[in-house]
Amino acid sequence: MSQDTPSSTATVPAAPAGQGAQQGDAFENLLHETRTFPPTPEFAANAVVKAGEYAEADADRPAFWAKQARELLTWSKDFDEALDWSNPPFAKWFVGGEVNAAYNALDRHVENGLGDRVAIHFEGEPGDSRSYTYAELTEEVKKAANAFESLGVSKGDRVAVYLPMIPEAVITLLACARIGAVHSVVFGGFSADALRSRIDDAEAKLVVTADGTYRRGKPSALKPAVDDALSQDGHTVQNVVVVKRNGQDVDWHEGRDHWWDETVGEASAEHTAVGHDSEHPLFILYTSGTTGKPKGILHTTGGYLTQTAYTHKAVFDLHPETDVYWCTADVGWVTGHSYVTYAPLINGATQVMYEGTPDSPHQGRWWEIVEKYKVSILYTAPTAIRTFMKWGRDIPDKYDLSSIRVLGSVGEPINPEAWMWYRTVIGGDNAPIVDTWWQTETGAQMIAPLPGVTAAKPGSAQVPLPGIAVDVVDEMGESVPDGHGGFLVIREPWPAMLRGIWGDPERFKDTYWSRFETMYFAGDGAKKDEDGDIWLLGRVDDVMNVSGHRLSTTEIESALVSHPAVAEAAVVGASDETTGQAVVAFVILRGDAANNGDETVQELRNHVGKEIGPIAKPKNILVVPELPKTRSGKIMRRLLKDVAEGRDPGDATTLADPTIMQQIAQSLRK
Ligand code: WT7
Repeated sequence: MSQDTPSSTATVPAAPAGQGAQQGDAFENLLHETRTFPPTPEFAANAVVKAGEYAEADADRPAFWAKQARELLTWSKDFDEALDWSNPPFAKWFVGGEVNAAYNALDRHVENGLGDRVAIHFEGEPGDSRSYTYAELTEEVKKAANAFESLGVSKGDRVAVYLPMIPEAVITLLACARIGAVHSVVFGGFSADALRSRIDDAEAKLVVTADGTYRRGKPSALKPAVDDALSQDGHTVQNVVVVKRNGQDVDWHEGRDHWWDETVGEASAEHTAVGHDSEHPLFILYTSGTTGKPKGILHTTGGYLTQTAYTHKAVFDLHPETDVYWCTADVGWVTGHSYVTYAPLINGATQVMYEGTPDSPHQGRWWEIVEKYKVSILYTAPTAIRTFMKWGRDIPDKYDLSSIRVLGSVGEPINPEAWMWYRTVIGGDNAPIVDTWWQTETGAQMIAPLPGVTAAKPGSAQVPLPGIAVDVVDEMGESVPDGHGGFLVIREPWPAMLRGIWGDPERFKDTYWSRFETMYFAGDGAKKDEDGDIWLLGRVDDVMNVSGHRLSTTEIESALVSHPAVAEAAVVGASDETTGQAVVAFVILRGDAANNGDETVQELRNHVGKEIGPIAKPKNILVVPELPKTRSGKIMRRLLKDVAEGRDPGDATTLADPTIMQQIAQSLRK
């Protein structure tokens, strides 16, 4: 057992992600966390979801979700059956129903007299801003739908999206959903190679991109990566639509490339949405797994929309008439799908969208935005909160943050210190914090307090949401008693669950349903405290979490060994004060490269950037003479993690060569 897992359990093999080793003692303490923050009577009285919801959902889960589906969505054709689980693990929700995501996010609000409500306040990094009412956004999406159709995209076709955080991203996704095309967003921080492999895997017909965006006050290009990705023949892309965002020069491929303004801009604003089958694919989103190849996580329509909309309303206590909601996630990640593109618009909310970085042009930019739009619900990641802590409270203190009434956290465990700072400094000692656990695969939030019901506990995601059956089990799959740890599982199908891995049903079964046959295995370690509240302890597999972004150790290792200078590589996620984990690589160099250490290391970082993307570049690359391996040849990453985190490596007796760790230590001291 590694020294930073709680002592009362021997079942969680890996070190927690956000609660790093140096916080080990703090972590022990927090499992005895006694501070609780119950909702104020006023908040509880006005909350949209009350305590009774848990019992109602427990009594009949499918019936509970069927009720939510009918209340939150307008179905073109009502469904016959809430859940078909006759062929596990392949679930069907709201069988026989037909629903259009874009109609639900847009047209129906306009029909209901809400056309003048602002849907999106967009704030560009250079300071430009524009707002779209529901009526305006509906019109834009109808035009985009017509434009995409005129470029030959029809129902079931895949569209790759490589865009920055601008309204056109939301418009593109909703236009795809409207016509039944399946979007596959590739985060702008991924490289041309990564983009190409995702385009190929999904066989995308259309790519939607931009000339570029702004990053820390400077233009940052996107289109060249698309050109690069498509430079080798053999792909399926017929057209590329390019949003003009930062005005930088772009190469142009006549016949293939089309400016957004000239296609979408010129298209008709008349477009009738038709219902799609509840199980019609809505999107594919690639995420890192434990092997080198990213998985195309597939989500479908009715169940996904129901659970994202329900959780958005319940967990953030959404009052759409008065709230201003801001989720800071990029549309390239699942949070930007579920809680920027779909749920807030389905629920008729007003939201803020920001293009840039938190320190551009100054470190108070976020708080300036909160003040400007009177943001009342803020949803962000612990890594951002820890960064703001580092910058100091005098920065947010300069702004009027009194509009804030609910704070959300997502992506990794939030340490109690950051939780308390978030509540005190950003939440004025008053706003409830909802720590939301979920995954790309779960589609929507699964574990979170209800702000008007649950007495919040700093650092714990606490309780499964109504209608969600989460448990912590031991290696045999038995539920652990309170006070013990183990593996996080989901016992019953849920509406927003992934329907599979694109093109690979076997991998879907192997990855999630083979560890504990009848339960979904999330890949996270967790613990139940004495009250039965759930604490997330980080991944138990070879997946890292850097700033709330998922990266695979294997994928980065493959990228490293694909460089001619590298003989062998091992990658670990070392705990990091700000980013939760940081990528640290150990490499054995070949021949000459070994004499050119520093230069080679820089080249290797860039190589990983090219193969996967800048977000995957190792923070540290350590050149070593050997890697610690067991007698069967398996690299013992646990020992490397000890080194990367500055600890004395633990038990090394199972190594084929027990002196390796000393050799490594010596080589690093040089
Ligand atoms: C992994 C999923 C959920 C959208 C963003 C990340 C970790 C996520 C929490 C949380 C502790 C968390 C888990 C999970 N994670 N939220 N509130 N507390 N850990 O989505 O890229 O699919 O990553 O992020 O380890 O498995 P993702």
